[in-house]
Amino acid sequence: MEYKMIAPEHSEQVMEHLRRNFFADEPLNKAAGLCQNGSSCPALEAHCAEAIQHRMSVMAVDAKEKDTLKIVGVVLNGILKPGDTAKALSKLDCNDDADFRKIFDLLHRHNLKHNLFEHFDVDCMFDVRILSVDSCYRGQGIANELVKRSVAVAKKNGFRLLKADATGIFSQKIFRSHGFEVFSEQPYSKYTDENGKVILPVVAPHIKLQQLYKAICADDQDE
Ligand code: ACO
Repeated sequence: MEYKMIAPEHSEQVMEHLRRNFFADEPLNKAAGLCQNGSSCPALEAHCAEAIQHRMSVMAVDAKEKDTLKIVGVVLNGILKPGDTAKALSKLDCNDDADFRKIFDLLHRHNLKHNLFEHFDVDCMFDVRILSVDSCYRGQGIANELVKRSVAVAKKNGFRLLKADATGIFSQKIFRSHGFEVFSEQPYSKYTDENGKVILPVVAPHIKLQQLYKAICADDQDE
């Protein structure tokens, strides 16, 4: 396996990977019925494309496939500044994809309520937004390596704080094994509408959203 930085020119191949894997498989996307395996999702693609522009993302490529760039895993990382989440939440009202709104309303509101900027007094964060591995390549440590490399990219670029909204039990375990700590949690059973109906019926073993962070101290940045 080879690991490479993702450049904007890789965007279409990254989207192809995500359409076949993350878009349908990620626990919240699945619960919302956001899209079928292989189909596109313009709202989510715009979210992913924005992250790629920050040039902090990493892909795993199958080195055995010599003639093509066979992307088998990606971690899309972005830079988050104070005010970005509130702006994203206000833009959500204009988004015509109701399933996308259900997911991002939960994520944005949770992040505004549990404000890492205020708590850590930072003016930017390294935001690990999308972690995805091809279903045929799972269980081989690829996600572990992608998160490890993301931490290295964050350190190299001088970030003091990383964050991730981990939506499933396995991604939560992966982030914790790389030194991320839980800042806040939201059980999916308590994300309900005005009639008490669960908005995202996420299937077990995934029961809650975890907002995780990893603080980098000055000594760590020299590593
Ligand atoms: N069952 C049991 N354990 C698992 C599973 C599973 N299905 N998946 C991962 N793990 C455990 C592994 O045992 C391993 O533990 P270890 O380090 O103690 O050995 C650890 O998680 C890491 O395993 P990897 O092999 O590195 O994970 P993998 O490459 O299979 O990718 C991922 C895991 C990214 C969750 C993959 O299943 C996937 O793409 N799922 C769909 C998308 C998704 O849910 N992404 C995360 C959403 S949160 C976010 O994007 C910020």
